[in-house]
Order: sequence, then structure tokens, then C-alpha cells
Amino acid sequence: HLPKVYVTRRIPPDGMKILRQSGCCDIEQWDSDDPVPRSELLKKVVGIQGLYCLLTEKIDKELLDAAGPSLKVVSTMSVGYDHLSLDEIKKRGIRVGFTPDVLTEAVAELTVALLLATSRRLIEAVDEARSGGWGTWKPLWMCGSGLSGSTIGILGMGRIGEAIAHRLKPFGVSKFIYNDIAPRHELAQKISAEYVSLLELAKQSDFLLVCCALTPETHGICNKQLFSNMKSSAIFINTSRGAVVNQEDLYQALASNQIAAAGLDVTVPEPLPTDHPLFTLKNCVILPHIASATVETRNAMAALAANNLLAGLKGEPMPKEVPLN
Ligand code: GLV
Ligand code: GLV
Repeated sequence: HLPKVYVTRRIPPDGMKILRQSGCCDIEQWDSDDPVPRSELLKKVVGIQGLYCLLTEKIDKELLDAAGPSLKVVSTMSVGYDHLSLDEIKKRGIRVGFTPDVLTEAVAELTVALLLATSRRLIEAVDEARSGGWGTWKPLWMCGSGLSGSTIGILGMGRIGEAIAHRLKPFGVSKFIYNDIAPRHELAQKISAEYVSLLELAKQSDFLLVCCALTPETHGICNKQLFSNMKSSAIFINTSRGAVVNQEDLYQALASNQIAAAGLDVTVPEPLPTDHPLFTLKNCVILPHIASATVETRNAMAALAANNLLAGLKGEPMPKEVPLN
């Protein structure tokens, strides 16, 4: 009989097409746009060989124990894999697929959009125009800050960070600086970005963009200390994971104008409750985790996750596999 696969959500059509047409697995799916309840998921994974999941599902010891020894492959339709307990997964010899590269351009584009929306106060301005706040043209009204001549700091110079820098260069940015676990020397030729310490990144950046992976090392790395070292005119943008930021510290920094503004595509929790203090701030633009949300990109992610899963079930190399050594 065919290996059993569980798909935890309704996914873009290209992904389902690949799984169905392969004819090599017995697919069950949570056919909804909303997440499968945890209790249901724990039942559905029993005895499966392949799990196709999203970043909303915690794949931890409890779930892996529930699935049992039949589980061979976990394929997540995301580039981030902080929702997977890799230690537990490794112990069980399970292979893991993820979706880097296919979403790099969409995420970089959205990061630029969020940066401009925040730096040029677009959301505030649209609200004013709609609600009668647009009295007349005023020289000192709705002024933000421009990218030309600025110093852009990037925390996490991976594929996405590099793609962001590449897109921002034509805006006349005068200097790119970055911090990561290690300098990337080959980058110097492409975008001439200078490697600096986290402290220097905080001090020098006019715009500080966070696009690192969430790991034990980056958890809460954007905290009171970082914000207190930033310029009062600086703008903070996060399109990585909410937990990279200490949100209480960010709230204080924004409310006290220690920094000028923030744009967030990710928060803790998600969704952020509508009565959260961050929503009361005019200088905080919050998006509902949409960085990879273009039709083409989501289809490409769904397809890549499907191909990863099928390759894993066949014991073949996956197109994009998380190295577990
Ligand atoms: C989105 O956040 C992803 O990890 O793909
Ligand atoms: C981080 O997620 C990257 O792809 O650079």
C-alpha cells in the first residue's frame, strides 16, 4: 500500500497537483484556510510517513511521539523552520524539507514596501486623507525620512538580506552595513556591505532591517539595549520572526520616541490581538505576516514543498533539504 501523507491545510493548487499526480502517496488533507486544531492534528499524524506542514504547526516531541516511528519526512511550506524541533526530528532520523530561494524576491520586495510605508508614513497619511485630516498642503506636515544618502543596516545577511540590499541600492543609499554570525566576504564585490558588530549596527543605521532566521542566538536580540543605542531618527523593520524582538522593549522605544518608527510583518503572537499596545502607536506599521504573499511565490513554495516531500518518501535527495548534522 501507498505511504500515507497528511497535508495540514488547504494549499496553493500547484502543490496539491504535484502530490496527486505523483500517484505515489495516499493523501489526507485538512481542507480549510484555517489551521487544523492541535487535538485533530495529533490524531491525524498517527502512522503517517510524510507530513506537509506550515509555519503555524509546532512539530515537537509530543507530535513526533504521536506520529510514531512510521514518520520519515516533514516538509514545511516555509523558509523558516523555527517551528520544528530539529533535535527531536534528528533523533528519529526524519528528513526535513523547506522552501528557500523561491520566496527571496517576494520577501525582499515586501521588506522594501514596508520600509517605505513606514519611513514615508503612508498608513498615517492615507488615514488622514480619508478621515478629513487633510486640511491643506502644509510644509511641515507628514514629513518622514528619505533613503537617499542614508546608512542601511541589515541584521542577517542571508539570501533575503542580500536581495533587499540589491533592491535598495538604486534609492541612493550611501552605505550598507550588516551583522551576522560571520562576515560574508564574497558579498563585498556585489554590494559593498561592511560587516560591523551588533552595537555598531544599532548606532550607525538610519534604517535597521531584520531578516535573520530565528535561532536560540537571535531570540530576543532586538531588545532595550539595542534600541537604546539606535538614533532617535532611526526606523526599525522586521520581516523575519516576531520572537527576534523583545516587543515590550520595542513598545517602550517607540512610545518614548527613543526611535522614530517601526514596521513589522511578524509579531508574537500571530495574529497580534487587536487590543495590543503596539496597535495604539501611529509610528508602528503592522502587517499580518504577508512577506511571501504573491500568487506566484505561494504556488512556487507549495510546489517545492510537495517535491521535497515526494523526494523524501522515495529516499532521494530533496530539492531543498534542511541539513541535520
Ligand atoms: C515565512 O515566514 C516563511 O518562513 O516562509
Ligand atoms: C533567511 O531566511 C534567508 O533566507 O536568508
